[in-house]
Amino acid sequence: MTDLTPISFAATDLDAIATRKGRVAVVVTPDGKLEQSARRVNRLTKGAVQRFVDSDGFAKLKPGEVMSMAWPAGMEATAVDVICLARNHSVEDARKAGAALGKLRGSGDMLLAVDGARRVQEIAFGLAMRDYAFTPHKTDAKDADGAVVVMCSRPEVATEAAAPLLAIAEGTFMTRDLVNEPANVLTTTEFADRLVEMEALGLKVEVLDEDALAKFGMRTLLSVGQGSDSPSKVVVMQWNGGAEGDAPLALIGKGVVFDTGGISLKPAGGMEDMTMDMGGAGVVAGTMRALARRKAKANVVGLVGLVENMPSGNATRPGDVVTSMKGDTVEIINTDAEGRLVLCDVMWYAQERFEPAGMIDLATLTGAIIIGLGHENAGVFSNDDTLCNAFLKAAGNEGEGAWRMPLGQAYDDMLKSRIADMKNIGGRPAGSVTAAQFLQRFVKPGTPWIHLDIAGVASVKSDTALAPKGATGWGVMALSRLVADNFES
Ligand code: BES
Ligand code: MN
Ligand code: ZN
Repeated sequence: MTDLTPISFAATDLDAIATRKGRVAVVVTPDGKLEQSARRVNRLTKGAVQRFVDSDGFAKLKPGEVMSMAWPAGMEATAVDVICLARNHSVEDARKAGAALGKLRGSGDMLLAVDGARRVQEIAFGLAMRDYAFTPHKTDAKDADGAVVVMCSRPEVATEAAAPLLAIAEGTFMTRDLVNEPANVLTTTEFADRLVEMEALGLKVEVLDEDALAKFGMRTLLSVGQGSDSPSKVVVMQWNGGAEGDAPLALIGKGVVFDTGGISLKPAGGMEDMTMDMGGAGVVAGTMRALARRKAKANVVGLVGLVENMPSGNATRPGDVVTSMKGDTVEIINTDAEGRLVLCDVMWYAQERFEPAGMIDLATLTGAIIIGLGHENAGVFSNDDTLCNAFLKAAGNEGEGAWRMPLGQAYDDMLKSRIADMKNIGGRPAGSVTAAQFLQRFVKPGTPWIHLDIAGVASVKSDTALAPKGATGWGVMALSRLVADNFES
């Protein structure tokens, strides 16, 4: 797994700043007040920081932005990074500043001198999140080196406050690695193996093979994977950090390791992007990792359906009718609408086995959600205002875009089949809603449920606030916060 940048916290030592190699970052408020360490650097550089603060360049900086001065005289540093941050900065600005530093660090050392320990951990978190590169397949990639030292007034307090955030960064990195990994490497078996490794963190992990899935009657899930040489699997991860007997929150992920469309084959252009079609399962895995790492005081189960959607002589045909674990029959009109066929069986299994207090599924489910919301927001569908609003609040606090979409009988009616209980597609109009409507047929009355369509946000073609282009890890922060604010005792 891609490692986090090593970040440690130490007491401020103004003398050490002069002899420090690598980059040195200091804080100046938007109205031009230099923090103590910034004043120290200013003296060392014979007023260079103050001259910069008095310039037009600084006037253009917005809170959370960083400007660098290369090879400062009077110091051994390669650069001084001036962070523009108000005393009462928002969490978002602090993370943004950290992310800017993470981008600048490269593979060198960095000293971050921040007065008044307040939210030092948010800067460190932003830095850790942005300092990510997916390099396992670059033969010229250098071993990561360099470390970050954060100098602040109360390093013990900062170390403790940063720990849960760094757990979330680690979970996010796991999600990004999984989503970025190509499908010849991340087969269903490799995916399951990587999840089993998390037993070392105190998670209980079980892998259900095809025989077990057949025994449970998960025929719609198996119908998706039957054209592939990679065996379909369901992996169940349990984190029992809460009170014994407390009903868990269930997280369900779509894990299509590659989606060719099956017999309803996708066009060639852009098909390579379908390596990210396991994004929902990736977020579930990363969230379980974060919860285990920060020892969340809650019971949470994560279930992922791992399959590959391939055409072959053994693949599902359009027109086939299959029976779900629930017992409802599905007429498969389009084998490319496969995610819902995977999720419906895993959702049903999760409810039968765990009777969860709430259920959240995540899936790169529809291209239509990208048409509707672009890459800014995930589509949120829910049968329960309380759980839904709690999630929207958590996502909002973490700066992860999420927008609620409708559900309703008229959409459900679009799934009627002539020969089976339902079709697997509802036609072109409202494609994301009919997909959600399909899933809702597999939610038991009384189970609060959210469906997150993350097709637009799981992987993007340009840098975001906290991630370089590629897999974002969208959702790990929001889900971890949802658990912290609503499910922890
Ligand atoms: N995995 C795709 C959805 C997708 C598209 C994810 C683009 C990420 C980026 C999904 O399985 C799919 O193929 N959906 C079809 C549904 C249609 C056949 C009803 C789609 O969106 O076109
Ligand atoms: Mn598909
Ligand atoms: Zn898919």
